[in-house]
Amino acid sequence: MAYNLLKGKRGIIFGALDEKSIAWVTAERVHEEGGKFVLTNVPIALRMGKINELAEKTGSHVVPSDATKVEDLEKLYEESVKVLGGKIDFILHSIGMSPNVRKGRDYGDLNYEWFLKTLDISAISFHKVMQTAEKMDIMNEGGSIVALSYIAAQRVFPGYSDMAQAKAMLESIARSFGYRMARSKGVRVNTISQSPTVTTAGTGVTGFDFFYEFSDKMSPLGNADTASCADYIVVMFSDLTRMVTMQNLYHDGGFSTTGITYELIDYLKKGGFASSKE
Ligand SMILES: NC(=O)c1ccc[n+]([C@@H]2O[C@H](COP(=O)([O-])OP(=O)(O)OC[C@H]3O[C@@H](n4cnc5c(N)ncnc54)[C@H](O)[C@@H]3O)[C@@H](O)[C@H]2O)c1
Repeated sequence: MAYNLLKGKRGIIFGALDEKSIAWVTAERVHEEGGKFVLTNVPIALRMGKINELAEKTGSHVVPSDATKVEDLEKLYEESVKVLGGKIDFILHSIGMSPNVRKGRDYGDLNYEWFLKTLDISAISFHKVMQTAEKMDIMNEGGSIVALSYIAAQRVFPGYSDMAQAKAMLESIARSFGYRMARSKGVRVNTISQSPTVTTAGTGVTGFDFFYEFSDKMSPLGNADTASCADYIVVMFSDLTRMVTMQNLYHDGGFSTTGITYELIDYLKKGGFASSKE
């Protein structure tokens, strides 16, 4: 159901790779709610992914940019303001990548060049996105900026490796830049800490099937899926959350405050996880 929550709002959505991406599903939801936006991703993802399908479906424009490169962001912002016909009300940072995770490096044997890349792509890019936006003064008063995080920022999930540090930094940047953005422009900055979700980035984490299943049993509402995450992001972009800022908001079916569930106990009594029987 659509409520016209984003009617008249303009935005930029980073990170739609394919139809499973959180950014992709969010773009569809934002479109349903009347928001207009530019889609962006790294050139290689634009070539390999299907972003043009999404652009056509949502009547949006695609501008390539690598979020770690300030000059790309400058071009993206210049073009976005032009194409959308005015300043920006919302930005979604839905970007994450660790070369160490992707190449299966053990946490005790990290490649430090790659570690720096993990931090640059998955966390510092969020600072670059906001610093460039601030310098170019592209945000409208009362705007909203959201990035996606994961609870490995607070708790240990061994397979998440150096992405845990990236998410901790991402959440910290949201607070520090959120303060500046609030004072200068009344713009909100928040992170949404999402349940494990079946996407390209998600399934790249070692043992994903197991912790997806574990998390589902440990969440009183079950894992939050991509569609419900998109709904939450829409609400965070809307004026209904105009006083929420500098928060890490759990969108996880209750996982983050649950110690154990009867569902998990029963499950273990009956012989454990389905994925371990493959
Ligand atoms: N899938 C999960 O289980 C899960 C859970 C919690 C949080 N998240 C977070 O959600 C966000 C979106 O991931 P997803 O699960 O939709 O997976 P995804 O693989 O569909 O999206 C990740 C995106 O990051 C983009 N990207 C990588 N390097 C980039 C760069 N330098 N500049 C711009 N874009 C770049 C990729 O091209 C891709 O589109 C990530 O921050 C991820 O860590 C995912």
